[in-house]
Amino acid sequence: MPDKRSSKHPAPKAPLITQVVIVDPNHPDDKDLRVAAELIRAGKVVAFPTETVYGLGADALNPDAVRAIFAAKGRPADNPLIVHIADRKDLLMIAAWLPACAAPLIDRFMPGPLTLILPRAKMVPDVVTAGLDTVAVRIPEHPVARRLIELAGVPIAAPSANRSGRPSPTTAAHVLEDLDGVIPLIVDGGACCFGLESTVLDITGPIPVILRPGAVSAEEIIKVIGPIRTAEESQSAEMRSAAGGHLSTAVPRSPGMKYRHYAPKTPLRIAEGPDQPTRSLQVVHQVLGAIRSGLKPAVFASNETAALVAKSLPLGYVRVDSDAPDAGFSEAGLKTRQPIPVFVIAHGPCGQARTAASQLFAALRKLDGLQADLIIAESVEETGIGVAYLNRLRKAAGGGAEPSPGTAEVKP
Ligand code: TXA
Ligand code: MG
Repeated sequence: MPDKRSSKHPAPKAPLITQVVIVDPNHPDDKDLRVAAELIRAGKVVAFPTETVYGLGADALNPDAVRAIFAAKGRPADNPLIVHIADRKDLLMIAAWLPACAAPLIDRFMPGPLTLILPRAKMVPDVVTAGLDTVAVRIPEHPVARRLIELAGVPIAAPSANRSGRPSPTTAAHVLEDLDGVIPLIVDGGACCFGLESTVLDITGPIPVILRPGAVSAEEIIKVIGPIRTAEESQSAEMRSAAGGHLSTAVPRSPGMKYRHYAPKTPLRIAEGPDQPTRSLQVVHQVLGAIRSGLKPAVFASNETAALVAKSLPLGYVRVDSDAPDAGFSEAGLKTRQPIPVFVIAHGPCGQARTAASQLFAALRKLDGLQADLIIAESVEETGIGVAYLNRLRKAAGGGAEPSPGTAEVKP
């Protein structure tokens, strides 16, 4: 008798059930992390919390396991991954050698939200670095991430645990939204404290270059190693050098930065301005303009601006949602039975870019689920972590980036 399950008609795969294991974020119990560590050792993909965003991890030294990360995310293969280690003594397993400025950076920022681009060691597979001769390395500070790496006993390659093109996940619920049925396990260690990805700093060239602004600011890095460049400055230096007929020594830009990231489906507009009062008024102006054009806006702004929006519209028109203390008006609009056309997320007192940054991705996901026609987001001062906040906002607004090839496959 021929076998009915011939290779032409393989048995259908059982749907994957995604398990969620809740762990104590500060003092994770080894027994809660053991299954995750065993899955990683077995070449599977597991989502886990870090202090920046949730990562989607697999054994960095196992090419098939790393390919499974790209497949789960729908990520283009030309976008390399960060390798996460628990201890600086493992740096020279991943990097061929350390440039001179590495030591003070490691002393000051590792563990923490800084990723260094280093010369790549031979044992790192091509699939991790997308064939580049450099490799991205980070030592996360989050106790769950570090203990998981230790228990797995291997370096963990991990991008952010979202479907490609979606906002990075800052809670386990966000990961489940994007990857339910796609990965076997999510380690739930609560909300990530920074809420924006790490700063990516390339130190393989003559002048260090920030390829992606992040939780560690340029100002903090300059204090430790002196002058650095932004990716844009580095690129124009490269162009000037090419125009002068010299061989370019500028470092390559981060491949991932060319894609449109963090993209809500709802169009997003940034209310910019040179100072806080102007930015607040811009938000109100854009909200009123949208309503006049028959559009339903949704807003992400400071408490003060949220209050101004509420004041500028008839009572009951605005619903403010806020976990932030001092918002003081979260009941506005709830007492009426009118339809509520404007939903505002107040992120906290103005001038606190860190608080705004920590809530940005969660807010984009929430506001995107409201069937609004337009999301209006208040800008912040472009210094410190405000640089990273604005970088993500501009990408979310589609500024200068090409759509990620994975975007079309994003679940509704
Ligand atoms: O905070 C974070 O960095 C999170 C957590 C999970 O660690 N990870 C993260 O990974 O954001 P991902 O893959 O979403 O972003 C990594 C960035 C991408 O822009 C990628 O292109 C860049 O780092 N990158 C990785 N390896 C690189 C390399 N060798 N040279 C230049 N850029 C690199
Ligand atoms: Mg990412």
